[in-house]
Amino acid sequence: MTTTTPADVEAALRGVVDPELGGDVVELGMVRGVTIEDGIATVKIALTIAACPMRDQIESDVKRKVGALPGIEKTEVEVAAMTAEERSGLMAVARRRAREGANPTMVSPLTRVIAVGSGKGGVGKSSIAVNLAVALRRAGFAVGLLDADIWGFSVPRMLGVSERLQANQDRKIVPIDAAGVQLVSTGLLVETEETALMWRGLMLSKALEQFLQDVAWDQSLDYLVLDMPPGTGDIQMALARLLPQAEMVVVTTPQKAAQKVAARVADMARRSYMPVVGVIENMAGFTTEDGRHYELFGAGGGKALADDLGVPLIASVPLDPMVVSGGDEGMPVVTAHPEAPSAQAIIAAAARIVELVPPAEDETCTARIAVLMEQLEGRA
Ligand SMILES: Nc1ncnc2c1ncn2[C@@H]1O[C@H](COP(=O)(O)OP(=O)(O)O)[C@@H](O)[C@H]1O
Ligand SMILES: [Mg+2]
Repeated sequence: MTTTTPADVEAALRGVVDPELGGDVVELGMVRGVTIEDGIATVKIALTIAACPMRDQIESDVKRKVGALPGIEKTEVEVAAMTAEERSGLMAVARRRAREGANPTMVSPLTRVIAVGSGKGGVGKSSIAVNLAVALRRAGFAVGLLDADIWGFSVPRMLGVSERLQANQDRKIVPIDAAGVQLVSTGLLVETEETALMWRGLMLSKALEQFLQDVAWDQSLDYLVLDMPPGTGDIQMALARLLPQAEMVVVTTPQKAAQKVAARVADMARRSYMPVVGVIENMAGFTTEDGRHYELFGAGGGKALADDLGVPLIASVPLDPMVVSGGDEGMPVVTAHPEAPSAQAIIAAAARIVELVPPAEDETCTARIAVLMEQLEGRA
């Protein structure tokens, strides 16, 4: 028996955006009923036109969001077409939303948000987030990167950025261009130890919220990659609330202990209605130049976690000193050594993520996946 209620399903549906209207399906009044029976959730949803090209995307998003809830084995979507009257009512809601700027974070509802999370620091979360963002950018997507790890911001260094964030005329924070990726990091805001301490003080989630509301994100971003702080506390929940379209990629190392910690993050993601897209195992085996292979941190943890969560293992990234040097020199390994096995694994992960979470504007998606594929060894 699941404890998931129709209200939980509705909350999860707030993360499903109608790409055409730019609002979530709940606020747009498109959800016409939710029932749960024997682990099967049935969602009745009314679309502007039953055969609209966005139908598939909305349907698969509903399945992903609702399917991420505990105890939901299967999600059925019943699509109905709206009457002309309902349609014009809906357009009015969409227009009002646009006028009132309903989106608190100024992230376009069409932007896919990929939150890279881990239970603890040091597993390579930031390295993965940075390289994923750069890989997506190199494939031609418009990509933003939010370093939300207030305690351990390392993203600016990894991208060789040291300039401070500036405000525009509207007093909004303008992301910094880092190798074509639009970067915002709390680390680019703090000037001194004191401001850092202030940030780390009370009401951190509130401060982050305020900060996020002040960022002028490019409205045409395909992806926003989020380097989440480690752990499962207030800040993670606040981020999930602020970015309802976020979906989680969990990073873990191959050892069993790490897997347990990572499972907690996945649990947090579920509680905040973030579907888990998949698992990336990092710091998997190390291969020496003469071909000897060592599994320094054990093996199989990523696969085991993915199986537990019922999600795919997106990639297994080997231990590679070039990941470290790339990070230290501000030149991520996917740019500096795209042919290295570690870079290849991350590029493949990016391609898989595009498949699992396709961008809202889909026409060029296939071509861009092809670009990522071309960068994979043996396919070029
Ligand atoms: N695949 C890898 N191979 C070797 N070193 C790695 C790899 N991934 C990350 N590292 C290194 O491990 C350290 C921690 O990585 P980082 O991305 O900062 O982790 P987190 O954000 O989880 O704290 C960094 O020095 C980084 O260069
Ligand atoms: Mg980090």
